Amino acid sequence: MTTQFPDGFLWGGAIAANQAEGAWNLNGKGISTADVATAGALMKAREYTDGIIEGKHYPSHEAIDFYHRYKEDIKLFAEMGFKCFRLSIAWTRIFPKGDETEPNEAGLQFYDDVFDELLKYNIEPIVTISHYEMPYHLVTEYGSWRNRALIDYYTRYCNIIFTRYKDKVKYWMTFNEINVVAYQPYISAGIKLREGEVKEQVVFQAAHHQLLASAKAVKLGHEINPDFKIGCMLLYPLTYADTCNPEDVVAAHDAMKKSYFFSDVHVRGYYPGYMKRYFQKNGINIVIEAGDEEILAQGTVDYIGFSYYMSLVATSDQEKIKAAGGNMLSGGSNPYLKASEWGWQVDPTGLRIALQNLYDRYQLPLFIVENGLGAVDTVEEDGSIQDDYRISYLKQHIEQMEKAISIDGVDLIGYTPWGCIDLISAGTGEMKKRYGFIYVDKDNDGNGSLERTRKKSFYWYKNVIASNGAELE
Ligand code: BG6
Repeated sequence: MTTQFPDGFLWGGAIAANQAEGAWNLNGKGISTADVATAGALMKAREYTDGIIEGKHYPSHEAIDFYHRYKEDIKLFAEMGFKCFRLSIAWTRIFPKGDETEPNEAGLQFYDDVFDELLKYNIEPIVTISHYEMPYHLVTEYGSWRNRALIDYYTRYCNIIFTRYKDKVKYWMTFNEINVVAYQPYISAGIKLREGEVKEQVVFQAAHHQLLASAKAVKLGHEINPDFKIGCMLLYPLTYADTCNPEDVVAAHDAMKKSYFFSDVHVRGYYPGYMKRYFQKNGINIVIEAGDEEILAQGTVDYIGFSYYMSLVATSDQEKIKAAGGNMLSGGSNPYLKASEWGWQVDPTGLRIALQNLYDRYQLPLFIVENGLGAVDTVEEDGSIQDDYRISYLKQHIEQMEKAISIDGVDLIGYTPWGCIDLISAGTGEMKKRYGFIYVDKDNDGNGSLERTRKKSFYWYKNVIASNGAELE
């Protein structure tokens, strides 16, 4: 088959600081919101403790020790032929508490070293500025993104990293899965609801602050280096109507609106009418200060990064449908799809639909910055890991990407499968839920040598990249 992937397509992989680095308190790093997240019980959501409690297991504290092993890991990525690598900067390495005026030099130097290592192999760094991690001090002292003061702390942080890395990093994303604040406010934005607070009032005010912070960052970044490409990052929760009953179709549209709200503001630079009405109707009063509208209008993004793992179903009649789990949010189950061991409904065709929907809506370049199968891997007696299920999942998704490009004309610039090296799960804190091409010897309780081993999918993906997506067998 002739490949339809464009020349220069950014094949790579993705990780996040708090799920990979470890070294949670080394060289001046402060405590982050992720550092107080325990490992949940098997397949269960994590607990976010008030501060660090002795005797509890906090997986981010060691994670996979990327902090000390990044050279070895990047060498393996280079061996696979990665063109790019998505990682996040831990805000707490740069500003340990978040409200300092001077950054932590050791933290800045660490990312200089990581970027240099990537560039040595011609791997383009793709940087998420805040990926489910922020200074814990901003939570305890300021109430996190409820507080408008956070906008200045975030933009100060952006100013420092944009200036420092302006010749090393071109692709940035402002907030990982920004729409998740509406569903999981703590993991996404450090918000624990206080007694008497109305969830939507708090999360949409916080969202307003994050959207302003993002817009300011985009404007600032372009001033620092006009060649920067600064994107948003959306969890794309593709939702189908349960039936062709128009009421079900409306329910599916409504389910998507809460996510589109975020990308609409990021891309168009203003609040969509449907959301203003939703706020009015539900008694949500967002404090929008003079000048905010200009800020949003001036900071629109250059591309759309998004994650896609699964799809959901919406209905007008909840009685009629079985519940299904999913990434950060849940919905209805789909009898046409099989689910992963963690209950996420696997839907490769849905990725093509997602690409079409986003491209039709925005006509901006798209970047799939997360996709993959969380599964239990077995190490065979000979030490090999035969992860054919992962290969099958990724292959089917890449086939749909190819169709989106060659048939639907979508401008897709890259693909970074999630957890290209095994790391800790964001949702459950488990190690057992593995996504990687590279196996890391560590178990759910934190035991293991941390040794890295190439899985079968490692060799498969290497060939996919070498053939620019033409060889998927
Ligand atoms: C995305 C996050 O929601 O999904 C990642 O951006 C996360 O941080 C990934 O790891 C997969 O979710 P989980 O719960 O399997 O780790």
